[in-house]
Amino acid sequence: MKSSTGRWVSGDNFFDRETELKVLGRQIRDGNHILLTGPRRMGKTSIAHELGRRLEAEGWVFLFADVEGASSPEDVIAAIATATHPVRAISSRIADKMGRMGRFIKENIDEISAHEFGLKIRAGLDAGTWRRHGERLFEACAAHNKPVLLVIDELPIFLKHLISEDQGEKKAVEFLSWLRSVRQSLAKGSPVLLLSGSIGLTPLVARLGIPDRINDLYDFRLGPWSRETCIQCFERLAEHNGLLTDDGVAKTVYEALGIGIPHHVQSFFARLRDFAMMKGRDQVAVADVREVYRTEMLGPSGQSDLLHYEKRLKQGLDDETFQIAMEILAEAAAQGAFTASARRCLERGYARIIPDARGRVSEALEVLVHDGYLTTNSDGYGFDFHLLKDWWTARFRDHHIPLASRFPDKDQ
Ligand SMILES: Nc1ncnc2c1ncn2[C@@H]1O[C@H](COP(=O)(O)OP(=O)(O)O)[C@@H](O)[C@H]1O
Ligand SMILES: [Mg+2]
Repeated sequence: MKSSTGRWVSGDNFFDRETELKVLGRQIRDGNHILLTGPRRMGKTSIAHELGRRLEAEGWVFLFADVEGASSPEDVIAAIATATHPVRAISSRIADKMGRMGRFIKENIDEISAHEFGLKIRAGLDAGTWRRHGERLFEACAAHNKPVLLVIDELPIFLKHLISEDQGEKKAVEFLSWLRSVRQSLAKGSPVLLLSGSIGLTPLVARLGIPDRINDLYDFRLGPWSRETCIQCFERLAEHNGLLTDDGVAKTVYEALGIGIPHHVQSFFARLRDFAMMKGRDQVAVADVREVYRTEMLGPSGQSDLLHYEKRLKQGLDDETFQIAMEILAEAAAQGAFTASARRCLERGYARIIPDARGRVSEALEVLVHDGYLTTNSDGYGFDFHLLKDWWTARFRDHHIPLASRFPDKDQ
């Protein structure tokens, strides 16, 4: 098992998730379309690839399209078409249906890279034709002699982009309605769609007023690893990568993180290994874990990982709700909890400047809990995710004014 800190993992580098793989695999074999959600860095893309790898061994075709960068339905169709490129029976059937240019692509498909293929298909799509070509693409998958699993990763980010445009909500509704009608028209069995993303699709369709557009999907939420699994994964990484660890090292890593997000387990391991290497050692002790946590995980080199949490939140929320989410995180970090009375203060303070402050506070909280930033506890909301808490605390400690002082309750 290699240490990995960036890309998704599969095969020998993929650890555990056996129960999740079993449940998802059964749903897919039964022909059920899936909605895979979970906080960022939890391993959604990895589990999708691992599922694909295992299904390929059983004779399935695995297609993976990442639509994070897509800004129109045409881009999404082109991304899926790109994914089909290696499966000539499917890709040439798609091209064949696209007029003269398509037939030219079909005849030269072996000389064209997947990327070029996607660009050419994209050039043949516009606002008036993507539906028709998209349907043909799905039909080409359905007509294939092997069952097909099609993963569309980061779909909610694409929808967010779409919504932010002129007439965006209408376009998002149209796209989701179209995708649902395509699913319904497919004979049960293939292609099976797995839609995934770290921004919740369910709150998004609820806001658009069209929850029925995804209610045929089997909802699967990917959670963190247990303490046991984190410790085992860390120990496996240490063993396979030649790092000796004192008793208690793996346990201290888990406790410092507070929650078993696979990416952070991997990242902590990689930093500890580098730390030992720089000191000319091949063994680490519990005190080293604490030092690396402070100087690396929370230090300059850990920033990009942590800033990612802020960036994703900004991507998922509108400006005012994002600002409210930051207020909640600052309060929960600096005060140890975001209490019911702090919530009333925040709602009161924001009610003066924005409409529906209460609704936005609820929405921000829903996303913060859904995406694993905060959990509910007896005091209200707090962090189980210690790394994130320590980072937010370090940022706000010196200038956070508690909500109760900023927006005091005049009746009290
Ligand atoms: N099952 C796993 N075994 C080992 N490492 C994993 C596993 N799942 C995720 N990771 C680690 O987490 C990182 C993020 O995984 P990824 O699949 O990209 O998450 P997501 O798609 O949820 O953001 C990977 O680069 C890898 O280091
Ligand atoms: Mg991913």
